[in-house]
Amino acid sequence: MKAQDENREVLPTGERYHHGIALYESVYRESLENPNGFWSKAASILDWDRKWDKILDDTNAPFYRWFLNGKLNVCYNAVDRHAKSGNRNKAAYIWVGEGGEEKIITFEGLYRRVNNLSNALINLGIEKGDKILIYLPMILEAPVAMLAAARIGAVFSFVFAGFGASAISERINDAKAKIVITADGGYRNGKILDLKRTIDEALVSTSSVQNVIVVRRSGHQVEMEDGRDIWYHDLVRDGSKYVAPVELESNDPLFILYTSGTTGKPKGVVHGNGGYAVWVANTMKWAFNPNDTDRWWCAADIGWITGHSYIVFAPLILGLTSIMYEGSITYPSPDRLWDIAEKYGVNILYTSPTAIRTLMRYGEKYVKMHDLSTIRVLGTVGEPINPPAWRWYHENIGSSKAPIIDTYWQTETGGFVISPSLGLGLPPLKPGSATFPMPGIDPVILDEEGNEARIGEKGLIAYRRPWPGMLLTLHNDPERFVKTYFDRFKGKYYCGDYAVKDSDGYYWLLGRADEVLKVAGHRLGTIEIEDALLSSREVAEAAVFGKPDEVKGEVIVAFIVVKNEFRGISDIASGLRKQIKSELGPIYVPEEIHIAETLPKTRSGKIMRRVIKAVFLDEVPGDVSTLESSASVDEIRAAIESFRKQAQ
Ligand code: PRX
Repeated sequence: MKAQDENREVLPTGERYHHGIALYESVYRESLENPNGFWSKAASILDWDRKWDKILDDTNAPFYRWFLNGKLNVCYNAVDRHAKSGNRNKAAYIWVGEGGEEKIITFEGLYRRVNNLSNALINLGIEKGDKILIYLPMILEAPVAMLAAARIGAVFSFVFAGFGASAISERINDAKAKIVITADGGYRNGKILDLKRTIDEALVSTSSVQNVIVVRRSGHQVEMEDGRDIWYHDLVRDGSKYVAPVELESNDPLFILYTSGTTGKPKGVVHGNGGYAVWVANTMKWAFNPNDTDRWWCAADIGWITGHSYIVFAPLILGLTSIMYEGSITYPSPDRLWDIAEKYGVNILYTSPTAIRTLMRYGEKYVKMHDLSTIRVLGTVGEPINPPAWRWYHENIGSSKAPIIDTYWQTETGGFVISPSLGLGLPPLKPGSATFPMPGIDPVILDEEGNEARIGEKGLIAYRRPWPGMLLTLHNDPERFVKTYFDRFKGKYYCGDYAVKDSDGYYWLLGRADEVLKVAGHRLGTIEIEDALLSSREVAEAAVFGKPDEVKGEVIVAFIVVKNEFRGISDIASGLRKQIKSELGPIYVPEEIHIAETLPKTRSGKIMRRVIKAVFLDEVPGDVSTLESSASVDEIRAAIESFRKQAQ
């Protein structure tokens, strides 16, 4: 815990912001002591068609149901009510293409586009409860597609545009998606991602998809299958149809978002309508305290939960203007973020520690090219932020004034669970700590046995009560939902993170306690990469783990044993890299692939990743009493040696 102790300094964050924590403490207390009154008030952030019968129904715990029998439509709340108000002509999105193009869409414009697509989906036979898979880059049709699905009660499953064909077909099959919405291509670092071709490959191993709707973005030649594939612009050509938003029960599903776990295939995290929408809108207000006139920029990808919650639902429900940027943060040059922030007068910037560390490496020169004086608040998400990156961001991007809202949360939590609350009187910040729980969140740090850890002692973070934004279940697998999140510590939600609480009550999130990787903020399962390696012709055994990396947090390292008949063949690693890239996507490609003679296993045959990782990192391998043969540790050392020699 030494590193953390050193970091326990309190930074002044500007008199303008720091109002002490008295307001926060009283709001937080009320949320726990009078949850019914508290959530009833918090839910008034939305327009409901029918009021709920009960705030929280826990009769079937842990399948908690919020705002039971309340009826609403999230698309109506995000779009219609602004399009029909004084916000009609306000920009909902200012979109910036990687090539510098700009599109501004007002709430009225968004309303029209969403209605048109909703109408088209209905004409294609989509009904309430049907599943739609969205595989789009960062273009305006992405939020439009999500909102159109929400409007008609269809459930969308967004797949990040960096995923490969087998990741997509797995998600289509699990959800039995009827429609895919994609684009011909997307831009990344000046190159075109061939999205439609990836979808065509994915559809070879699926049978539920009736139609593929294709947005024309890149304009390059793509195959269109007669009867199945339709251009988006043809579908919405005939103008402005009104589609009445479908009244949904608060706990009807809004979307499924697949995320990696420690075992098996990715889990389909299901979020509902009422609780989720109440949660994301309120947490955004509490944490960032945005003004009506602010320009908010969440620089995450829309395909991850951060984009779902804080590019689409929260800011739209609050009627805010968002910046949406299509491409790479270093294209065409490393000042791209700062250039956009200056050009569009961004007031709140929310990005990942990896992005900050990447840009920090290029130096202040690129920052100084721009006037960032409009930036009032900064945020981070997705991984722990190390104090040097925190300070760099605060001093250079925030002119030593903007507070940093380090938001800790997960796909499953729907929105922030631990974060400074600018809207409730910002606490003094400690670089690297996400500070205090959001209202309604009741965390506890436990040791391995489930006893409460002492102050300053590293443990596992769990939650003693549910909150409105938490996942409803796992798609198709309610048993796995219970087992994954509620089995480890009975009656408490637990999902894999280490944390420590200091003597001032601040929470420090210390990374994953399980075998989930965080590579550049992306959550990846070791098991998915191992499965992909094992599905190749050459690989007999595989073990994958994360190696600490100064910029990306972690990078992927794989150890493999090659089948006898392929031994000695050169270039196996590059073939495997290619295969992983096309199956799972580029973010899954290991940085290092080591070929070993054998891998350390327990006597029952389980590969001991922990031991390989320890040897690799030159650490003490810990308890090796269950190891089948200590010779395999030497094999690992030999493999590392030979890899390093080759790399020289
Ligand atoms: O380990 C934690 C880390 O990201 C994990 C959740 O990943 P995902 O579901 O992809 O959601 C990312 C966007 C919310 C967590 O279990 N994590 C997220 N935010 C932070 C963090 N770790 C430390 N500090 C954070 N602010």
